[in-house]
This record gives sequence, C-alpha cells and structure tokens, in this order.
Amino acid sequence: MNSTSLTDRLLLANLPDEERANGQRLVRALSLVETKLRGVEEELERRTRSEVPTISLIGEYLVDGGGKRIRPALLLLASRLLGYEGEVDVKYAAVLELIHTATLVHDDIIDGADTRRGRVSVNRRWGNELTVLFGDYLYMKGMKVALEEGDVRVLDLLADVTLAMTEGEILGAERRGSADLTIEDYLEVVRRKTALLFAAACRIPAFLVPGSEKHAEALWGFGLALGTAFQLQDDLLDYTASEEELGKPVLSDLREGKLTLPLILSLADATSEERGAVETVMSERGFVSVPATAILGLVERVGGLEKARGVLEAHAGRARQHALSLPPGDARDALLLAAEYAANRRK
Ligand code: IPE
Ligand code: IPE
Ligand code: MG
Ligand code: MG
Repeated sequence: MNSTSLTDRLLLANLPDEERANGQRLVRALSLVETKLRGVEEELERRTRSEVPTISLIGEYLVDGGGKRIRPALLLLASRLLGYEGEVDVKYAAVLELIHTATLVHDDIIDGADTRRGRVSVNRRWGNELTVLFGDYLYMKGMKVALEEGDVRVLDLLADVTLAMTEGEILGAERRGSADLTIEDYLEVVRRKTALLFAAACRIPAFLVPGSEKHAEALWGFGLALGTAFQLQDDLLDYTASEEELGKPVLSDLREGKLTLPLILSLADATSEERGAVETVMSERGFVSVPATAILGLVERVGGLEKARGVLEAHAGRARQHALSLPPGDARDALLLAAEYAANRRK
C-alpha cells in the first residue's frame, strides 16, 4: 500500500470544502504513523492466511478491499503520544482491525447487505454460512495474535469490548422494525457496537508504556466520544451522502428496518400519518408503498438532520476536551484532527 491509497482512504476529495484543509492536515498527520500503518497491512495479510484456501481467499478479498483503518491509526497515534518505542502497537492495531472486520462481515449478514466498501459483500459472494464461519475465524485470530503478547489486561479489555459489540448488535437487532426507539436506547446501542472498540484502540497503548496509566482515562474518554461521533456521522451519511460516496445504497438503514438518530429525532415532531409511513417502510423492508422522498420530506420539515448534527457535535466536542487534557505535541494534534474527521467525513 502506498501513501496515495492511504490518502484516498481518507477520502479527501469527498470532504466538504470547509473541511478540506482539515482533511489535508489529517493526511499529513497520519504520515506520522505511515510506516507503522504499512506494518499493519502486512500483519493483516499474514494473519488472514490459512491452510484452508477459502479462508485465504476471503481474507485477501477483504484486506485488498481496504477500509479506512481508522482504529489502527488511532491506536498508533495514541502510542506515539505516549512515546512508545517498540513494535507491539502495530500488532495490537492489526488485532483491532481483525476484530472490526469480523463485526463487519457478521453485520452484513444480519443487515442483509449486498455491498460493502463499494464491492460485493462477503455474504453475497460466499453465502451466509461461510461468512459466519469466516467472521468467527477473524475474531479468534485477533484474540490469538493478542495472546502472543500475553498481557492479560489487554486480553481482558479486548474480550470485554468484543462481548459488548455482540450485545450491541443483539440489542440493535431486537429493536429492528420498531419506531419506538428512544434516543437513550439508540445511544446505548452505539456505545456498545461502535464506540467501545474506538475507546479500546485509544486506551491500549497505555498498557504498553510504563507510567502512562495516568493518561488512560482521557484516552478512553476520547475514544468513546470520537467513536460515538463516528457512528452518528455514519448514520447521518445514510441520509445525506451519495451512493458513490458510501459504497452502498443511501437510506440503507431504514430499508434494513433500522431507525437511527435523524429519524428518531424527527419522529418526535411527526404527524401520525408520517409515523405510519415510517413504520410501513420498516415493515416492508424497503420503499414499496412509501417513496423515499416522503421520509426525506419529514426529516427535512422538522430539521431532523440539524438536530442529529447537534448531538454529534456535542460528542465531537467531548472528544476534543479529552484530547486537550493529554500531553501536547504532533500526536495530540493528529488525534484532534481525527476527531474532526470522524465528525465530518463523507465516507
Ligand atoms: C463501519 O466502520 C462500521 C461503523 C462503525 C459505522 P468503518 O467506517 O470504519 O468501516 P471501514 O473499515 O472503513 O470500511
Ligand atoms: C455498525 O453498524 C456495525 C458494527 C459496528 C458492527 P452499521 O450497521 O451502521 O454499519 P454499516 O452502516 O453497515 O457499516
Ligand atoms: Mg450494517
Ligand atoms: Mg451504517
């Protein structure tokens, strides 16, 4: 992988004008960990090979397909912030990406998604059976790689966040199709399914550097807030981005029967007719008798996107506050830019 592809991954071209300067600064900031990110790619290629050819085949398909690698980047930047000088951070960064990838392939089965990262999803290409098993393989491979270091604290944290992610997906699945989801319920799902892995990414380096425990809480809080903003932006993009930017159809969440923040906040001001339309789309799993424009019309009429944006900004602000309590320097600047990116990304 070269630095251009890394830049592409961060999708500079898709950032709104006012964010482009920040995006360019972020790309420069990521060059701080460029060599290590290359190491992560090598780890990922190596660790997804198996004597069973199907594993290697799917592994190659996924690793080649890219992804933003934001969790590894955060772990490596946090590690730099703490002055870590070894190579174990690269290994842990790869572990996080393995776990993340496992959750994605399982998530795509659950959501019945046909596309991921602009390509045919693994479930669509290899079927649900093999995809479940491949996801299982990735989870345990991630744990096994981490186990090589034998740090029980890291293993314990990884097990906790992985369990929480599964809980988050279950809570999300159970609420699918329901128009009664509260903001609190929604944020709890987000915390589990997304934010905790970001928190772990930022916090793990504090296990690597003796004497850095005093920064663990701020790193954790930073990751949690940034991860929440990241998922809220993901959910907003489902309403505001183009199919080309997303690499999957827009309004996919609602089609999948999933209520997210823009619509949760809109439903509070919806007429009973509008609420009925939302329920219909969710139960029909698509825009069959209700057109997408009807839903977008509701969201627009009550300012649902702006309201969701407000909640997102509050979390991004919290991330910034945590970052500012960490030691100053190029790594902290990069973490601050990463928080801006999470909140404003277009992909
Ligand atoms: C997708 O994560 C799942 C969410 C938490 C929204 P990413 O947006 O980090 O996915 P990739 O790895 O870049 O494809
Ligand atoms: C994030 O949820 C998936 C996980 C964190 C497992 P989404 O369902 O919103 O993710 P996308 O939109 O499919 O990437
Ligand atoms: Mg999904
Ligand atoms: Mg989504």
